[in-house]
Amino acid sequence: MAHRIIRFETIPSTSDYLKSNYRTLSDGDVALAHHQSQGHGRLGRVWEDDEGSLLFSILLKDHLKTESAHLIPLLAGAACLEAYKTLGLNPMVKWPNDILIDGKKSAGIIAEGVSQTKLEAIVVGIGVNVNNTHFPEPLKQKATSLSLALHQVIDPEEVLERILTSFDSLYKDYSEGNDTFIPIIKAHSYLDGREVFLNYYDERKKVKVQGIQNDGRLLVLEGEKELLLEAGEVSLENVYPTLK
Ligand code: BTN
Repeated sequence: MAHRIIRFETIPSTSDYLKSNYRTLSDGDVALAHHQSQGHGRLGRVWEDDEGSLLFSILLKDHLKTESAHLIPLLAGAACLEAYKTLGLNPMVKWPNDILIDGKKSAGIIAEGVSQTKLEAIVVGIGVNVNNTHFPEPLKQKATSLSLALHQVIDPEEVLERILTSFDSLYKDYSEGNDTFIPIIKAHSYLDGREVFLNYYDERKKVKVQGIQNDGRLLVLEGEKELLLEAGEVSLENVYPTLK
């Protein structure tokens, strides 16, 4: 997939930009910004950035596979895992969309669909803490950056390139019916075997995580009862080491 990089110094949100302009932009176009004034994450959360962040979004609009579009965030997560490994890091994924180093969040992913009568486009937004050196409370306990983990300054564009290279390879496999990102995600699942609190619609339940399934859902046990969770419907608490 060819990636034209569209650069901004400051923009409300790289994902919002691609969602608003998908008609005139091409499959694979990437919006990249130094700063966002309205960056957003999953479940309506604000995404704060500072000097050291890599902020970008990828537009997918050709040959979309509507029935499995919900797997794209996991595919993007696997691309980040692979890219991190080429940098010498040992990352994990906190299902569905956080990439952790030493149990702390270093990147977040949000995939959003653009639909009219059918799915027209998918925008994959990724925020990576690359050269961030300090995090405000209460993030301090649960966030890290690539440079903190590697003890050196990292070129954000180098990270972008590595993520796009992994993404392209996994996306090509996926387009050809080969979900090679699934074993990668499963092999790096941080939550497996852990007890976490699950915010499930209006309820808060304590569950034990069994693992990520081939269809992308998370299997958890509530006592003896099995629950299969979809990424959109839950948030999980108390999983960062210092907060246990
Ligand atoms: C999350 O952790 O909930 C996902 C965070 C995703 C943030 C990225 S930064 C680039 C892109 N633009 C946005 O507004 N959000 C994503």
